[in-house]
Amino acid sequence: MTGARITIFVCVTCRVPIEGDENDFETPGGELAAAIEARLRDAGASSIEVRPVECLSVCKRPCTIAFAGQDKWTYVVGGLDAKSHAAEIVATAQRFAATEDGIIPWKERPLSFRKGVIARIPPETYRMTEKTE
Ligand code: FES
Repeated sequence: MTGARITIFVCVTCRVPIEGDENDFETPGGELAAAIEARLRDAGASSIEVRPVECLSVCKRPCTIAFAGQDKWTYVVGGLDAKSHAAEIVATAQRFAATEDGIIPWKERPLSFRKGVIARIPPETYRMTEKTE
């Protein structure tokens, strides 16, 4: 699947509590970013870039990422697992890149994207049009 250049921002400072110890945590965002990059490489998806970022202000929903691209809606997605969601993130990114405006139809969204969307932000050029009946 081809598409526009897009970026997947991956928060590398999200803290995930380690089970059974409320004072201990891990920061799996770096592992998630590496897993996404490896799958993108395998898929030959060179138009999709992964960029680490410090905090997307959704710290209670680790791991958190954002899909962004020129003239596209930006999606912030949380609750992602570094070990099990890399494939779905790559599939979502490829679908996102192929859209004109970044909006992926609900039925085409992987489960982690459906459940994890926290916010969508319009492109800077966005203007709402009035609906006519
Ligand atoms: S530390 Fe990841 S969103 Fe804040």
